[in-house]
Amino acid sequence: MSIYGVTKGTKFEEQIDKNGKGEEQGAGMYAGLAYLAKERGLDELSEVLLKIAADEMRHAGIYAVFNGHINQDIFEFLKKIAPVESNAFESLNQFASKMRGIGLEDAAKQIEAIAVDERRHGELLKNIVDKQSK
Ligand SMILES: [Fe+2]
Ligand SMILES: [Fe+2]
Repeated sequence: MSIYGVTKGTKFEEQIDKNGKGEEQGAGMYAGLAYLAKERGLDELSEVLLKIAADEMRHAGIYAVFNGHINQDIFEFLKKIAPVESNAFESLNQFASKMRGIGLEDAAKQIEAIAVDERRHGELLKNIVDKQSK
């Protein structure tokens, strides 16, 4: 049986949301620490922290499913989200040049790398949706 929405409307809903937010924050925090560790050449530590971040993300996802926060129409939803990912490429690149404008060259490069990831996400999702609708 699916765990989808099982805690929605129960006395546990609030606690589940709280736990989920904690997990989301934890994911960002560990991923940030992983980035810093990498900057300092601590590659092994960075790998471990990234794996923990991925665990926390997975936990956040489970909590979100518990309370029914996730769209159940997976392919319909991905169809909507694919262009959002793709469009982020352009807007993030514009943002990067603004950051470059105040001399934040290294930060701008990171934003550009994020932009490339988002474009890839968009393409991946579009391919999945296209395949599904055949
Ligand atoms: Fe966790
Ligand atoms: Fe993305």
